[in-house]
Amino acid sequence: MAAREQFGSRLGFILAAAGSAVGIGNMVGFPVAATKNGGGAFLLLYALFVVLICLPVMLAEMSVGRHSRKDPLNAYTHLTNNEPHWRVAGWLSIITPFMIAVFYLVITVWIFGYLFQSIMGNLDQLADPATFGAFIQSSDLFIYMVAVLAVVYLILQGGVKQGIEKAAKVMMPALFFMLIGLVIFVLTLDNAFAGVEYYLVPDFSKITASVVSAALSQAFFSLSLGMGIMITYGSYLDSKSDVPGSAKFVALADTGVAFIAGLLILPAIFSFNPDTNTAELSDSSVGMIFTFLPKIFLALQASIGYLGASIVASLFFLLVFFAAITSLVSIFEVPVSAFMESKKVSRKKALGLMGALLVVTSVIASMSFGIWDPVTSFVTYADQSKSLFDVIVDVFYDTILPLNGLLICLFVIYRWKKDNFNAELDEGAPNYKGSFFEKYVDFSVGTFIPVILLLIFINTVALKYF
Ligand code: PFF
Repeated sequence: MAAREQFGSRLGFILAAAGSAVGIGNMVGFPVAATKNGGGAFLLLYALFVVLICLPVMLAEMSVGRHSRKDPLNAYTHLTNNEPHWRVAGWLSIITPFMIAVFYLVITVWIFGYLFQSIMGNLDQLADPATFGAFIQSSDLFIYMVAVLAVVYLILQGGVKQGIEKAAKVMMPALFFMLIGLVIFVLTLDNAFAGVEYYLVPDFSKITASVVSAALSQAFFSLSLGMGIMITYGSYLDSKSDVPGSAKFVALADTGVAFIAGLLILPAIFSFNPDTNTAELSDSSVGMIFTFLPKIFLALQASIGYLGASIVASLFFLLVFFAAITSLVSIFEVPVSAFMESKKVSRKKALGLMGALLVVTSVIASMSFGIWDPVTSFVTYADQSKSLFDVIVDVFYDTILPLNGLLICLFVIYRWKKDNFNAELDEGAPNYKGSFFEKYVDFSVGTFIPVILLLIFINTVALKYF
C-alpha cells in the first residue's frame, strides 16, 4: 500500500490549515458580526472562545487525524473496530463537509463573478442594487462555476504537498499583503477612524445570550471545526510535528486576519458615509459583500479615479477569492480522501467522482434563488418556506457542526481515552506533557465543552425547526 501523503514542512501545514480557517467568514462574516454585536465587547468574547473552546477542539481533531493517519470516516471506524455508532460519527464528518462545500462553492462562484466584473471595470453595474438579484439567477453562474472548480481541481490533483501546500504557500502570503495594503489605503480616507472607533469601542450592553452564542458559532466555524478538515489535515502530519504549537499558530493567524479584516471594512463604510449608524449597516455578510461594498468602490472613483477604484475593487475580491479557495480546497479534500482510502482508488479517480457529485449538487442548490421552483420552495418548517440552499445552511452549518464538535470531544476522552489523546499530542511537543495547557485541554474537552456544544445543538434544533 502506498504510504500516506504528508505535508513537506511545519510551515506548509500551518499555512494550509490557516488557509482553511481564513475564509469568507473572516473577511466579511466576522466584521459584520462584531459591529452588530457590541464591537470590542464581541471581540473580547470571540477571543476568549477561540482560546478556551475552539483550540481544545482543534487539538482533539488534529490528534485523531495524526494518530489514525486516516480521513474522519476511516479514523472513527479504525480506532473503534468499526463500532456502529462511531461509524455514524464518521459518516457525519464526511457528509457535513460535502454539503458545506456545496453552499460555500455557490458563494465562491458569486465572488469570482464579482472579481471578474471588477477586473473588467464594471463598477457602476456592480453597484446597482438590482445587479446581485439578477446575477444569482443568471446562467453566467455556471460558467463561473466551471472556472472555480477548475482551480480547485488543479490544486487538489497535485496532492497534499504539491497541491494543497504549494497553493497555501502562494495564496496565504499574497492574501496577507493584499489585506494589509488595502487596510493602509482605507485608513487614509476621510473619516476612516470613526469606523475604527465604531469597530473597537466595546458596548457591553449588547452582549445578550444570543450574542454569546453567535460569537461561539462564528469562532467555531471560522476555525474550520466540526467539518472533518482538521482531522484530515492532521492525518498528513508525521509524528515529529508539534501539533499543539501548530494549532496555536493556526488559531492566532485566523483570529488575526479576522480582526484586521474589520479594520478594512469598517473604515471603508464610515468614509463612504460618515453618518453611518448600526441600522444602516447591512446585517448579512452576503448583503455586505455584494451590495454594500460595491457602492463604496464606485464612490471611490470620485477621489482616486476610475482605474484606481477598479484596482481597489479587484484587489478586494481577489483577496476574498483567495481566502475562499484555500477553504474550499480543504473542505473538499475531506470526502476525496475518504473515498480514496475506503475504495482504494487514486486521487484522480476520487476527485473526478466526488467532483461530479459536487457539480450536480451545487448546480441544483444554486437554482434555489428563483431559477427552479421545486428547489426555490423546497420545504416548509417553522412556518417558513425554505429553499434547498437554506436547508443546507440550516441543517449542516447551523445544526450538525456543533454536533460533530460534541462527538469528537466525547470520542477522544471517553472512547479513545485521555491517555492516548495526551500521548499523541505529546509526540513532537515535549513541553506539552504535564503542562497547564494539557490539563486544561483534557478537562475542558471532557466536561464543559461538550455540554456547551450540546446546548447549542438543542437550542438550534428547537429554534430552527419547531
Ligand atoms: N473557516 C472558514 C471560513 O471562515 O470561511 C470556514 C470554512 C467554510 C472552511 C467552508 C471551509 C469551507 F469550505
